[in-house]
Amino acid sequence: MDFKASIAKLIADAMQRAFGDAPLDAAQIASFLEVPPDTAMGDYAFPCFRLSKALRKSPMMISDALAVAISADYLSRVESVKGYLNFFIDRATYAEQVLTACISQGDRYGSDNSGAGKTVVMDYSSINIAKRFHIGHLSTTMIGNALYRIYEFFGWKAVGVNHLGDWGTQFGKMIAAYKRWGDHDTVAKGGVDEMVKLYVRFNAEAKENEALNDEGRMWFKRIEDGDPEALEIFDWFKSVTLTDAARVYDLLNVKFDSYAGESFYNDKMQPIIDELNAKGLLKEDKGAQIVDLQDYGMPPALILRSDGATLYITRDLAAAKYRKDTYNFDKSLYIVAYQQDLHFRQLFKVLELMGYEWYKDCEHVSFGMVSYEGQTLSTRDGRIVYLEDLLHNSIEKAREIIEEKSPDLENKDEVARQVGVGAVVFFALYNSRIKDIDFWWDRALNFDGETGPYVMYTHARCCSVLRKAGECDAKPDPAALTDPEAQEVVRLIDRFPEIARGALQRNEPSMITRFSVDLAQAYNKFYYERKVMVDEPGVRAARIMLTQAVRNMLRHSLYLIGIEAPERM
Ligand code: ARG
Repeated sequence: MDFKASIAKLIADAMQRAFGDAPLDAAQIASFLEVPPDTAMGDYAFPCFRLSKALRKSPMMISDALAVAISADYLSRVESVKGYLNFFIDRATYAEQVLTACISQGDRYGSDNSGAGKTVVMDYSSINIAKRFHIGHLSTTMIGNALYRIYEFFGWKAVGVNHLGDWGTQFGKMIAAYKRWGDHDTVAKGGVDEMVKLYVRFNAEAKENEALNDEGRMWFKRIEDGDPEALEIFDWFKSVTLTDAARVYDLLNVKFDSYAGESFYNDKMQPIIDELNAKGLLKEDKGAQIVDLQDYGMPPALILRSDGATLYITRDLAAAKYRKDTYNFDKSLYIVAYQQDLHFRQLFKVLELMGYEWYKDCEHVSFGMVSYEGQTLSTRDGRIVYLEDLLHNSIEKAREIIEEKSPDLENKDEVARQVGVGAVVFFALYNSRIKDIDFWWDRALNFDGETGPYVMYTHARCCSVLRKAGECDAKPDPAALTDPEAQEVVRLIDRFPEIARGALQRNEPSMITRFSVDLAQAYNKFYYERKVMVDEPGVRAARIMLTQAVRNMLRHSLYLIGIEAPERM
C-alpha cells in the first residue's frame, strides 16, 4: 500500500467536501507531502499554506477544517498544528503493510522498472596494459559494478565497458626492451611485474643511450603500421595483463560486456577527424590540430599532434560515437577519477559542437582519490598497494577472525573470501564517491563498526534466527511490532525504494551502503531489546516476519553494491 498516495487522495476528497473546491489534485498534493524529521510530528505532514491562496483562507483554518474531515482505518490520528496537517499511521498496520510488501516482492522490492527499454553504457575500471592493478582502480571498478547492478535493478539494460588503456608510445619501448633483454617464459610466468621491470630498465638505460629511444619509436611505428611481429608481441602483452587482471576481477566478482579499449578505435578516428574538419571545428596550432574551446573557458582539445599522432581525447570521441551507434544508449556514464574532470568537460563540449544532441546523455561520474593508512600512493616513490595483495591480505585477516570467533564453521575458505573482499569493497563504497578515501585495516575489517563485516554478520544473524525458528505457521500479530525498535526497522525498510531511486538518480552507490548499515544497526537494537522466540505464537511469527524482511533487505542491498552475503559466519 502506498500511504503517501492514499493520504493525498484523502486530502483531495476532504477538500472537496469541506470547501466545495479542489484547487490541487491528488498527485499535486502528494508532491507537497513532507516526511517530518521527527516521528512525534507524524509520518506525513501536509503544509496547508499550499492551499491558502486558492481557498482564500488561512493555513490554520484550512488545517483545522481538514483534520476533522479526514479519517481512515490505517490512520491512528490526524492533527492540525500551526497550519500543518500531521498524519499518524496506525503502527500495526504500517508494520504489516511494509513488511508484507517487502517479503512478497522479494528482490524486486523497491524497483519501479523505470528503466525498462532503456540502455545505459558504463565505462569503468578501464585499466592500463602492462601496469598492475593498484588500489587507485578500486573505486572505478566497484562504483561501476554497483551502478551496473543498480541500473539493472530498475530495469535498464546495462553495458559494461572496460576501455583498456592499450595505446601509446610506451608500448613501443616495452617491445624494444623485450626484444633486447626479455624472454618469453619469464614474462609468461612473472606476468605484468616482468613487463614493468623491462620498462623500468629501458628508461634507465635510455638515459645513457639515446639510440634506445629510437628503437622504441621504431617499434611503436611498427605497431601503428600493423606489422605482424610487433602486433603479436603487443597482443601477447595485452593478454598477459588481462590474465593478471582476471584474477582480481574474479575475486571481486566483476564482469564486463566489452573490452574495447583505446586501440580498438585506431581505424575509427579518421572519420571523426574528417567530420570535425567538415564542420569547421578543427584549427591548426603550431602544426597540431585542435578544437578551440576558449569561448567555453577551457584549454583547446588537442586532436592531432604535429607528428600526426592521435590523442586520448581523439580516441574518446571515436569511442563515444561508436557507443552511440552500437548500443543506441539513453545514458553513457564514465566512471573515472575527478582528475580527469577537464578531459570529460572537453569531450562533451566537442560532441555538442559537432551537433550531437546526445552529448547531454553523457555523464562523468567522478570520484575521489584513494590513499592507504594516511599515505598517498605514488608509483614513482614505490608507495603503491596492489589490489590483489590488498584483497589477499584482507581475506587472510578475515580468516584469522573467523578462526577465532567460529572455529567450527564449515566452509571457512569461502566465507573468509566473501568477508575479506566484502570488507574492502564496502570501505570503497561507504562514503559519497566524491570524497577521498583513506584505507585503514582496522576500520575495514571491524566486525562492530560501520563496516562490511558488520553488515554481513547481521545478515548471518538473521539467517541463524530464521534457521532456529524453522517453520512457523502462526499468523503474525502486527500489534507486536509497534515497539520503537521494531518500528525503526520498519521505517527504514519503508524508505528503501526512495533510497534506491536516489542512488540511481545521483549515481551514488554509497546511499545503499549507508542504508545497509542503518538497517543492520536498527535490527541489532531490536534483537537485543526484543526476544524473537517467545511463547506467544502471534508475537513470535511477527518478529520472525520482521527478521525475514531484514534478511532479504540486507542480502539485496549488499548484492546491489557488489558484496556477497554468507549465511553463516
Ligand atoms: N585508462 C584510463 C586511466 O586509467 C581511464 C580511462 C577512462 N575511460 C575513458 N573512456 N577515457 O586513467
